[in-house]
Amino acid sequence: MKQVFLETFGCQMNVADTDRMELILFHSGYRRTQEKEDADLILVNTCSIREKAEQKTFSLFGGLKPLKTTNPDLILGLTGCMGQQDGEKMLKKMPYLDFVLGPDQVEGIEQAVNRVKESKKPFVWTGFDIEKKYSIPEISGDLPKKPSPSSFVNIIKGCDKFCTFCIVPFTRGREKSREPEELYQEIRHLIDHGAKEIILLGQNVNSYGKRGLKNPIPFHELLYKIAEIPGLERLRFTTSHPNDFTRETIRAYRDLDKLVNHLHLPIQSGNNDILKLMRRDHTVEEYQELIDELKSEVPDISLTTDIIVGFPGETDAQFRDTLKVMERIGYSSSFMFSYSPRPGTPASEFEDSVPLETKSKRLQEIIKLQNRLTQEQVQSYKGKTVEVLIEGGSSKPGYSFKGRNPQYWRVNLKGDEKKFQPGDIVQVNIEKTSGHSLSGLIQ
Ligand code: SAH
Ligand code: SF4
Ligand code: F3S
Repeated sequence: MKQVFLETFGCQMNVADTDRMELILFHSGYRRTQEKEDADLILVNTCSIREKAEQKTFSLFGGLKPLKTTNPDLILGLTGCMGQQDGEKMLKKMPYLDFVLGPDQVEGIEQAVNRVKESKKPFVWTGFDIEKKYSIPEISGDLPKKPSPSSFVNIIKGCDKFCTFCIVPFTRGREKSREPEELYQEIRHLIDHGAKEIILLGQNVNSYGKRGLKNPIPFHELLYKIAEIPGLERLRFTTSHPNDFTRETIRAYRDLDKLVNHLHLPIQSGNNDILKLMRRDHTVEEYQELIDELKSEVPDISLTTDIIVGFPGETDAQFRDTLKVMERIGYSSSFMFSYSPRPGTPASEFEDSVPLETKSKRLQEIIKLQNRLTQEQVQSYKGKTVEVLIEGGSSKPGYSFKGRNPQYWRVNLKGDEKKFQPGDIVQVNIEKTSGHSLSGLIQ
């Protein structure tokens, strides 16, 4: 069997795409290796969300170039969002690349590799698939690896929101939902192979089913239907946009025990003028109302978010509004970013008046606040019993397993390795807390 080395940057969508490429390639004779040096084929699935993500990719390719020089038969491909955005530019910058594919060309990976074998001329495939082609290759018994107890399922591709700072609508194209039947089938498959928790994925999962489906159903109905699938223990989804988050979805949290009590709901900024410039199309008050209603239905829900600091024109007072909202809502954790202008997006044309130093000071300040909020919450778990889905072995010395509780806190577990295994749902007494995680003994 030939060997493929796969590297992934960016969001879970990219992780899911890499997994699918691994599967397609497995069925055409490639086994995944962790060693670049052993590979016959190297694929780097890229992200262009911020400049930093792009820089990491370029430095990785710098290290791959010598491998190609010593082994001219090595096939080197760049896939994902940077490919979509800058396909031809990538080939010019890195002439040793064999091909560049956009995220909508994942299913064409086998054909791309075959084309390189036939002709050595580098090429770029970045068309968006216009008919809805989102076939998941059949999962047969002899998989390279078993699905994780907690597995991702992509339910919607693309994004139509066009927030002014964001590159995703350009790299992933228009929103397209997958047929519900196809999703149920994939979820049943994953459960038959050991998955216990399913995380539904999309840039904006709440937009699911809005158009293009033969049998359209709205997102909340999909949740109810999936929750009925036998063997499913837990259901999560990410990411949500506040504007498409419906009252019915709040009710689903209340009605469905399997829908765990955690929501990732990006706010981006705590100031209405900045939200407007970002084209988020909602106010801080509307966001707060949603959260209040959710908390009244599901009191122990934990909330996480995404925040950008240093958006063009952000004043100190506007930045402080973000700190206030974070404190008021009490996020258990946040993904926090310094604004990075993305070529081609509307915000990249705005005057970027916030000096780099101010951006990084603001970033440090929200990180500090989030750490405090996280600490306060994590400590409240001490002495309590939590339910954990065991996902695998723990890297923390003295602990056998790791997993998560429903609120998405990472938990390290001590317990008999002969008695318990990944996929088990166990009750755990929390003895210690540190940083962002809990640890304790399985009861
Ligand atoms: N679809 C999701 C998030 C997609 S990208 C949503 O709408 O919330 C993940 C996060 O990256 C965003 O929520 C945002 O906080 C951040 N991000 C996107 N573009 C960015 C940019 N140009 N600079 C800094 N952060 C950015
Ligand atoms: Fe980007 Fe906005 Fe779409 Fe999220 S909703 S992917 S931030 S454009
Ligand atoms: Fe990055 Fe593309 Fe995801 S830009 S964040 S990999 S959708």
